[in-house]
Amino acid sequence: MEENRPILSMEHITKTYPGVIALNNVSVSFARGEIHALVGENGAGKSTLIKIITGAVEPDNGIIRFDEKEFSKMHPNEARKMGIEAIYQEYNLIDCLSAAENICLGKKMGRFVNQQAMAAVAKEIFERFHINIDPRTPVSDLTSAKMQIVEIAKAVSKGARLLIMDEPTAPLTVSEIDILMDIIAQLKADGVTILYISHRMDEIFRIADRVSVFRDGQYVVTRQVCDTNRAQLIADMVGRTLSESYPKRKNAPGDVAIELRNLTGNGVKNISFSARKGEVVGLAGLVGAGRSEIMKVVYGAEKKQWGEIYINGTPAEIRCPRDAMKYGIGLVPEDRKREGCFLMESIQWNILISNVENISRASVVDIGKEKKIASEYRERLRIRTPSIQQKVLNLSGGNQQKVVIAKALAANTDIIIFDEPTRGIDVGAKHEIYELMNDLCAEGKCIIMVTSDMEELLGMSDRIVVLHEREMSGEISREEFSQERVLDLASGGD
Ligand SMILES: Nc1ncnc2c1ncn2[C@@H]1O[C@H](COP(=O)(O)OP(=O)(O)OP(=O)(O)O)[C@@H](O)[C@H]1O
Ligand SMILES: [Mg+2]
Repeated sequence: MEENRPILSMEHITKTYPGVIALNNVSVSFARGEIHALVGENGAGKSTLIKIITGAVEPDNGIIRFDEKEFSKMHPNEARKMGIEAIYQEYNLIDCLSAAENICLGKKMGRFVNQQAMAAVAKEIFERFHINIDPRTPVSDLTSAKMQIVEIAKAVSKGARLLIMDEPTAPLTVSEIDILMDIIAQLKADGVTILYISHRMDEIFRIADRVSVFRDGQYVVTRQVCDTNRAQLIADMVGRTLSESYPKRKNAPGDVAIELRNLTGNGVKNISFSARKGEVVGLAGLVGAGRSEIMKVVYGAEKKQWGEIYINGTPAEIRCPRDAMKYGIGLVPEDRKREGCFLMESIQWNILISNVENISRASVVDIGKEKKIASEYRERLRIRTPSIQQKVLNLSGGNQQKVVIAKALAANTDIIIFDEPTRGIDVGAKHEIYELMNDLCAEGKCIIMVTSDMEELLGMSDRIVVLHEREMSGEISREEFSQERVLDLASGGD
């Protein structure tokens, strides 16, 4: 493969933002027909690099060579014409249009575009990849996994030769990842070159031919996947060796902090389990099983139909998030872009918004203390930014997530619901988040963790509650933990 002329090479690419060198003199090339992974910590410059390839961002310096043609910057239309397509970290679908309409958006289909023609295009693509989606479904009714597939279908329908995927598996669970991997393999067989960004090491070893590592805006190295291993890649990424094991919790669980009895609402039925102080209860299930939905009821963001929530042994009336906060419940939502933070405000503002009582004395905000708290979280979670006054909007995807987590931690609540806490978070910071969770447990806080990451579920939970099709299908104690058991319950077996 190496002898091939590269389909794309980036030469001496530099891109700066105020106070940040997002890419510093980066040279890297991609071979025709390979699956090439891009890895690096949050803020390393991966998304910036792909935005330069698609023309969404202009580099300050450097050359882009695609198919022997040379560009000092790429124009989005030019890129598309040459067959460069990207699936970004943020979805680009239009919610109110159907799957078929989204796929055909921006595609030349003659003057009289009709629903049938669009549905036919979509259907053909779905069939090619053995996907079961009705082309007429509005995107807003699709699960995030299916939206992802629609995004890919959209790129494929445009005849992509170079397909770039920025963390495509973030919203997917195990079985859906399998489907995506099959699609990628099929695209590779059809000669499509794939650039693949992911924080999940196992995926890289599963599908990539080569992997390039970035650190702090610098290109570090490109390796053949068959000649490297996880430890080496992680060391390349973080510039130090890192223990990959889950940190041990030292405290024993205390009294029950929260108990759900037949809690029903937001489409989920009869959920009953309890969580103690100082423990992590994992909530498992396939996407759409109802995990986030029932947690929103606990948090008062969605209406309860019936059932009870007990906090410290007494019934709690939670009708809105404000009530939940009064009972000491905090939530790190799954959809952080929409629900988790204020993108136009600063990092510091976001981290401290729920923590005003703690820092204001007699309603005077203590600016020095604010700065100190925000700076501590920035350091601990390795939020890459020139300043804590930076708008969250300008942070990389993973760094935005870290702000949302810091915000929940700073709010100082007793019961914390983490919905997919480390999705999109790099390996180094993941470990910090696990350590932080353990610290919280040692302080007697109670954690409920919704996660689709099997390793994390098994590595961090004290007990696992599994949901299947919006009902509870079982509870697993630590001694019986296994991937098979979780998957079995998640698919409805017992
Ligand atoms: N519009 C912008 N304004 C200011 N800084 C920016 C902007 N876009 C990106 N940056 C900065 O450039 C750096 C690289 O960001 P990039 O999004 O490329 O990282 P990444 O490797 O994709 O990270 P992640 O894994 O978190 O997605 C970050 O420090 C980010 O804050
Ligand atoms: Mg990114």
